[in-house]
Amino acid sequence: MRLLVTGGAGFIGSNFIHYIFNRYPDYQITNFDALTYAGNLNNLIDIQDNVNYTFVKGDIADRHAVDMVFAEGDFDCVVNFAAESHVDRSISQPDIFVRTNVLGVQTLLDAAKKFKISKFVQISTDEVYGSLGATGLFSETMPLSPNSPYSASKAGGDMLVRAYYETFQMPVCITRCSNNYGPYHFPEKLIPLMIINALHDQSLPVYGDGLNIRDWLYVEDHCAAIDLVLHKGIAGEVYNIGGNNEQTNIAIVQDILHQLGKPQSLIQFVKDRPGHDRRYAIDASKIRKELGWIPKYEFNTGISTTIQWYLDNKPWWEEIINGSYQQYYTKQY
Ligand code: NAD
Ligand code: DAU
Repeated sequence: MRLLVTGGAGFIGSNFIHYIFNRYPDYQITNFDALTYAGNLNNLIDIQDNVNYTFVKGDIADRHAVDMVFAEGDFDCVVNFAAESHVDRSISQPDIFVRTNVLGVQTLLDAAKKFKISKFVQISTDEVYGSLGATGLFSETMPLSPNSPYSASKAGGDMLVRAYYETFQMPVCITRCSNNYGPYHFPEKLIPLMIINALHDQSLPVYGDGLNIRDWLYVEDHCAAIDLVLHKGIAGEVYNIGGNNEQTNIAIVQDILHQLGKPQSLIQFVKDRPGHDRRYAIDASKIRKELGWIPKYEFNTGISTTIQWYLDNKPWWEEIINGSYQQYYTKQY
């Protein structure tokens, strides 16, 4: 198998490359990534010199660069993780989200069509469904109802993937997963931000009343689900992925403080995120029944493992927070 992974230097993409690398030692993996602020080659330092792994720096919205990598790679399959992924940044700078998450997807689809790729997996998000009330779950048949520029741009990408299936019969699948957590999670996101601030005895900024709910999944379980979709997913199908693990933000923050032995007084309620979705919760029965996916990690184990990873990998996140990320953080909070 010759596999193109786009956005493989980010959080989930780098976990996925490690997952595939360990599980299928004969696969040739090419990682095509623009190395935006979120892309980090340190995530893959352990395999960077392996003959089965190649890194190519490039932008998925750059048609010439995309065509070049496809022409050289002779790929069988593509998994697209490349995206602008942070909701707060999409509120202050929506244009780059449309460029990467819509135009970038279309550019990749054109190349996948031209080079006759046998499977294209688009990594999407549960946020395209919008926000839930107190009850109910997101199912694959629900209408898309995105509320942030981020989720709207991801929904645009999904619509193009769907259209290329209907119009050109391309062998595509879409996955829509809930919130991931685990190693290599960029420090701007809730869980790593709270761990790192707590370790520095800095305040922990909780948006609004802290009662927004997310359905958390350990990143390795997400990677296992994508592996199944890549190898067994039916063309044209959408697969929701989620661990049936709803948590309020405040409960997560309190737990992190407790596990690190830090005082709850570090919590600071701050201005809410505009358009803040109240609740996400996934119905993952389709991927469980049709592809046999079973998540392995309980939240208690996953969150302790994650906290320990941040304690053990200080140089990884110190390099990030001491760089240009600091300017973003100062402006944001
Ligand atoms: P991330 O921000 O950590 O990583 C994104 C990667 O894409 C980075 O390496 C970045 O350099 C690269 N990239 C950005 N723009 C690019 C471009 N124009 N061309 C090439 N590379 C580019 O994101 P993540 O959290 O790992 O998310 C990966 C994918 O999974 C995204 O598509 C996201 O929408 C989706 N997703 C994320 C979550 C989550 O909880 N993090 C949940 C569900 C779905
Ligand atoms: O649901 C999947 C999505 O999960 C992915 O598609 C996105 O790429 C990913 O970033 C994530 O989006 P969220 O907006 O849910 O994640 P974030 O970590 O930014 O925020 C999680 C919750 O925590 C959300 O309700 C906002 C809140 N929050 C976040 C930050 C950064 C805070 O209360 N304080 C904060 O400082």
